[in-house]
Amino acid sequence: MKLRRLGVNIDHVATVRNARGESYPSPLRAAILAQKYGADSITIHLREDRRHIREYDLKSIKKKLKIPLNLEIAPTKEMLKISIQYKPNYVCIVPEKRKEITTEGGLNLKKNKSLIKDIIEKLKRNKIRTSLFIEPNINDIRISKEINADCIELHTGKICNLINRKKNINSELKRIKNSVNFAHNLGLEVHAGHGITFNSGKILSKIKGIEEFNIGHFIIGESIFIGIKNSIKKFKKIIKK
Ligand code: PXP
Repeated sequence: MKLRRLGVNIDHVATVRNARGESYPSPLRAAILAQKYGADSITIHLREDRRHIREYDLKSIKKKLKIPLNLEIAPTKEMLKISIQYKPNYVCIVPEKRKEITTEGGLNLKKNKSLIKDIIEKLKRNKIRTSLFIEPNINDIRISKEINADCIELHTGKICNLINRKKNINSELKRIKNSVNFAHNLGLEVHAGHGITFNSGKILSKIKGIEEFNIGHFIIGESIFIGIKNSIKKFKKIIKK
């Protein structure tokens, strides 16, 4: 059986750096340490407003990293061009709204089907693994397959929120499980991400068929208290099959 992979998102190291306009803490240093402590890939989101990761981060991390780099992008011409220029190993296409605090939901595939299909085709021509960040729903999974994505990443924000607030998760958990099974039957690789903590990680890792978790905010936050090494190692243990 394949081991589940942990993608470590280091965007918020850049958030802290940018708060002071200094060159530290360095996202590159965080990426190299995450690699050392067991991350299977590094995720960065180059947002259109460049609020955290900047293009020079992408450039230096791509150059120095030995494990795969997963670049999250909005479905735009500019981001496609940047992806093809720097050739990260993976691209995850995500929706972006300028005023949101974080990625608040999955892609609207019905509305942007042909645009995203075209982006996927161009990325795949450049041998970049493509993933779509979607809500756990059957229709979006069906479209993901139709437009040739390699993987889907299920937005786990809702269930993580319910877990944090100690609310009932049964129906959301069922929705995620059904989505994982449906996607697998179509031959899509399934990932999960957004809002995952040690607690929600424990619950989500019981779902069979999720092959990759992408986790950022909690890992970076927890690193303040227990260090990036312990934070990553603890998650690796949680998601291990
Ligand atoms: N996966 C995707 C596609 C995301 O957009 C994000 C947030 O940038 C994450 C995972 C990580 O979410 P968090 O920082 O809440 O762990």
